[in-house]
Formats: sequence, C-alpha cells, structure tokens
Amino acid sequence: MTEPFLLTNLTAVTMMADGPGYGLIRNAGLAIENGYITWTGALPTCPLKYAKTPKHDCGGRLVTPALIDCHTHIVYGGHRAKEFEMRLEGASYEEIAYAGGGIVSTVTATRDTSESNLLAAALRRVDTLIAQGVATIEIKSGYGLDQETELKMLRVARAIARLRPVHITTSFLGAHAAPAGHDKNTYIDDVCIPALKRAHAEGLVDAIDAFCEGIAFNSDQIRRVFETARALGLRVKIHADQLSNTGGTALAAEFDALSADHVEYADDADVAKLAASGSVAVLLPGAFYTIREKQIPPINTFRSHNVPMAVATDWNPGSSPLGSILLAMNMACTLFRLTPAEALAGTTRNAARALGFRDRGTLAKGQRADLAIWDVTTPAELSYGIGTNPLHKRIFGGIL
Ligand code: NIG
Ligand code: FE
Repeated sequence: MTEPFLLTNLTAVTMMADGPGYGLIRNAGLAIENGYITWTGALPTCPLKYAKTPKHDCGGRLVTPALIDCHTHIVYGGHRAKEFEMRLEGASYEEIAYAGGGIVSTVTATRDTSESNLLAAALRRVDTLIAQGVATIEIKSGYGLDQETELKMLRVARAIARLRPVHITTSFLGAHAAPAGHDKNTYIDDVCIPALKRAHAEGLVDAIDAFCEGIAFNSDQIRRVFETARALGLRVKIHADQLSNTGGTALAAEFDALSADHVEYADDADVAKLAASGSVAVLLPGAFYTIREKQIPPINTFRSHNVPMAVATDWNPGSSPLGSILLAMNMACTLFRLTPAEALAGTTRNAARALGFRDRGTLAKGQRADLAIWDVTTPAELSYGIGTNPLHKRIFGGIL
C-alpha cells in the first residue's frame, strides 16, 4: 500500500497512440494509488477528487512508462573477451562456435560458477539496467544445458526479483546449444525436455525459448520442446532466422509465439504468418552490431503488416555484451532505421506485449505505476544520445 499522490508539471509520453506516435500530453498530471495509475490527462482536466492529494512537481520533465528489456541472458559465468579478439583477427561467430567456443564456452564457465557468485554478477548487470529506468527484465537460462545448471540459472533469476525493485520474468532456454559431445536429438529428448518439466514443476519458468539455427537446433527438434511447452500451458518465443533462414519465424507463428527474436532473415511469407499469429518481432541490434551482420531485419515489411516491433539488449557474453537499453534504442534507429517513436514503443508497449503483459508499457488508468522521469524535453532525445543516460528518477510500483 502506498499513499496516493499526484505527479504534476510534466509531459506524459503515454505510448497510447494508435499509430506511430508517442501519445504526448503536455502540462499533464498523473495520479498514483496502491501501485497503479488511477488517472492521467491534461492537468486542467484533473478530477476534483485529487484536489487534496499530495503533489509531486516533476519540473516540466518527460515521464514515460518504465522501460522493459524483453530479451536478456544476464545470468552467466565468465566472459568471452577472447572471442572478441578472435573476431577482430578474422574468425566469424559461427566459426568460433564450431571450434568449441561460443555458447558452450559460457556453459562451462556457468557450470563452474557458484549460485551466489552468479547472483552477484547478475545483480551488477540488473543495477545497470535499473539505473536506465528499466523496471521489467526477461532473463533466459540456456548456459547450463544440464538439469542442475539450468535450474541454478533460473533460481538466480528468481532471487534477483527478491533482492531488487524490479520484475523478472524467466524463459527456459534449454534448447540453446547441444553440449559438447552430445547428439542434438538425444540432448533434446533426454536432457532438455526433462529439465523443462522439472524447472516448471519448481515454479521457475514463465515462458520457453529456443535457438533455431544451423549452429543450434532445427524446427523439428524445437517443435518437440514447444509441444511440451504447450502441454504445460507455457507460451513460447524463439531466436529465429538470425544468421540464416531455418524456419524459426514460421515455427513461432505456428505456435502463436509471444515473439520471434532477431529475425534478420525472415522473409515476406514469414512476416505475414507472424502478423496472423499476433507475435511481436523482437529486434536485437546489439547482436547485429557485435557480429557485424549485414542483413537488416525486414522493418518495412513488419510495418506494412502491422507486426509490433520490440527492441531489447540481448545482453549476453558472446553476441551482445550490451548493457544499455538506451543504446539498443539508438542502434535500432541508426542501424535498422526505426523512428525514435518506434524505438520507444519497442522498449515499452511492444516489449510488454512480447512478454505477455497487459498491465505495463503505457501510461493509462489501470496500468502499473512503473514510470521513468527523464531530464529531456522531447522523447526523441532518449534514442538520440549515444552512451548518455538522462534518467532523473524511476518510480517502481508507485514508490517515488
Ligand atoms: O541471442 N542467438 C543465440 N543466443 C544468443 C547468443 C548467446 C551467446 O553467444 O552466448 C543471442 O545472440
Ligand atoms: Fe538472445
């Protein structure tokens, strides 16, 4: 329970516009009660019942919904700076993976790191995101690839939510890579699916993810994981068509996925299917930048099919060691040609949708009072800065 209060003297960036805009309300007010928004609008139209409510003057600043990072891998052991050096010497991301580096090298480091050390490292990353106005973070497993370590990662993710003022939502990503020496089919059936069932039984899983790619798993293998997810009543998402088109986006649509992520190589037919399934396309420019991809996701096709686009950091030790949601927004604009309004929708309204949340991502009555107050005068400044952080204050669950 928090006492009701009214934020005044602000520009509300509601993200409620039907089209591509920000849904700006100038000279706005915003009433908060019990952790939820109970009213927002132009201050002169403020209902009389708020006349005596305590006021907090925002000094003319911009207020947005708190940001949402809807795709991260921030629980991991070690780092992969060596691979960064190898790529600078000419090796590709895929060559490094085939040579035993890549995801499986982080698997070794994550297995070898204690639960408390994994938690300490992850908390530092979470604090970095919170300091940029983030209030909801999706965290994936997928660097365990055995039952014990997959569950360890997910327990760490749950522990973060008890230790910091932030919402954490987990995705089980057992189908991320096959551990060294394992046949992929045997791994899926004998390790991944049993680990999923166990993690779900322990209340550690909010959704399922999988990596559909030549260096990872094919559609048939992932379909078996998704069928298990469906039987457990869990929604799915997928790392799809990042390095080549291997049918991941189409598979996402087939399973009414929350989202298809990366999607650089999705084609027109894939996008039409995604539009029909109502899934979100999650754009991850940090990975595109790090591995110097050439193929830009089909942004105009997403636009013409009204596929909602989200933007996330994909923070992970290999393809996207990116600790800034604001820089992800900047990169989405500069590299993928999103408008700043699309980039902000991508880390608010559409990111909420990519995680299946209806109670956040916009400023409207009934939404959670997770807000970010910014020292900027126009919302485009949030995407325009490179390595800047204009956050003035974050409000989490109505607590100022
Ligand atoms: O989102 N694409 C697969 N998974 C991660 C990369 C993980 C890694 O390289 O460790 C990604 O890019
Ligand atoms: Fe990822």
